[in-house]
Amino acid sequence: MYWRGRWFFVHNYATGRVATLPAAAAPVLQFFDGWSTAAEYATNAGVSTTVAQTAISQLLANEFLHSSTRRPSPNEEAMARWDRWNPAAGFFHDATRDVRFVDPIEGGRALRQKARTVPPPPPIKRYPRARTYDLPRVETSGEFPQVLLTRRTWRQFGKRPLPLASLAALLGYTGGVHKWARTGSDKRMPLKTSPSGGARHPIELYVWARRVAGLPAGLYHYGGDRHQLERIRSPRARVGIERYLPSQPWYDGAAAIIFFSAVYERYLWKYTSARAYRATLIEAGHQCQTFCLAATWLGLAPFCTMALADSNIEHDLGLDGIAESVLYAAGVGVRPSGADVQSMPAGSPPMRVQANRRVFKPC
Ligand SMILES: Cc1cc2nc3c(=O)[nH]c(=O)nc-3n(C[C@H](O)[C@H](O)[C@H](O)COP(=O)(O)O)c2cc1C
Repeated sequence: MYWRGRWFFVHNYATGRVATLPAAAAPVLQFFDGWSTAAEYATNAGVSTTVAQTAISQLLANEFLHSSTRRPSPNEEAMARWDRWNPAAGFFHDATRDVRFVDPIEGGRALRQKARTVPPPPPIKRYPRARTYDLPRVETSGEFPQVLLTRRTWRQFGKRPLPLASLAALLGYTGGVHKWARTGSDKRMPLKTSPSGGARHPIELYVWARRVAGLPAGLYHYGGDRHQLERIRSPRARVGIERYLPSQPWYDGAAAIIFFSAVYERYLWKYTSARAYRATLIEAGHQCQTFCLAATWLGLAPFCTMALADSNIEHDLGLDGIAESVLYAAGVGVRPSGADVQSMPAGSPPMRVQANRRVFKPC
């Protein structure tokens, strides 16, 4: 419960229900901290049964108050597992799901307008009074620097299907188990190319295969220990990119899209602080970067995006959104012929890019 301006909000982060209620709802909820009848509440509050019933039914309708005959929903049971992380993690998790994305072209126009009166904050930080030490310039030649320096977000793709071997390499390098470790508490702890807090590896990978040579289109789970794709769902008729990546039509040409999810139980088992929820987000970032770099190394066109339709993806993957939820998405296609720089969304003004010779040696 929180105030925003003059509005009193109640947010049930297990059910996703948010409502503005009169502040007088708070003492009613406090009274019902255990099973009590409406009549008991009326007596305690010194109001008529009719007044009590009205207040109670409003809270029941919004599912902020439960009757003893109602069984908790699977979502409520899943959120109860987060008990030690809540309210911080549960509230943040639910409050940042299924947000509405502005049209990027419209959004870009609004930002350019805003920049005329409110300039963007400086993209770098300086300590003006500090003594400075120039560093030797960084190598740009060699395979590893070239992979790092040529990674870009691609928004145009070639029409050719993605070779299955490329998808296999991307999945293996990103989420494949390359070693098993054994400790006092864990019989089998996976080790992957990315680090993981306590080697819990909460991240799972799913593939939306759209144009992969030799692989039927559909949704798959990547079994990172056996290096297998497990088919979850064949494509429903007319699944467009907007079902999963709303307001990003430029990704429609991608040959494969990867969804990164987290299985929270793996972290909950070990970490009792809500800070662990932060770590799951960071883990998805580690793996996504590995994916983008691996794709760059393979000469492909990768991208990553946060503009996800969480519930649609989770529905189609069969995830409940609490015990396991989607966090991030990446995708890949073959490079379009003739394009050797990153592509901006159609309709965007051209982006001028200039090399910074202060850090890197010339290529
Ligand atoms: C967390 C995160 C979210 C992003 N979300 C989107 C997105 O919703 N749509 C999109 O087209 N690009 C998205 N991008 C890509 C950025 O726009 C891109 O990285 C940025 O413009 C810099 O370009 P570069 O990746 O080529 O260096 C996202 C990148 C990150 C790291």
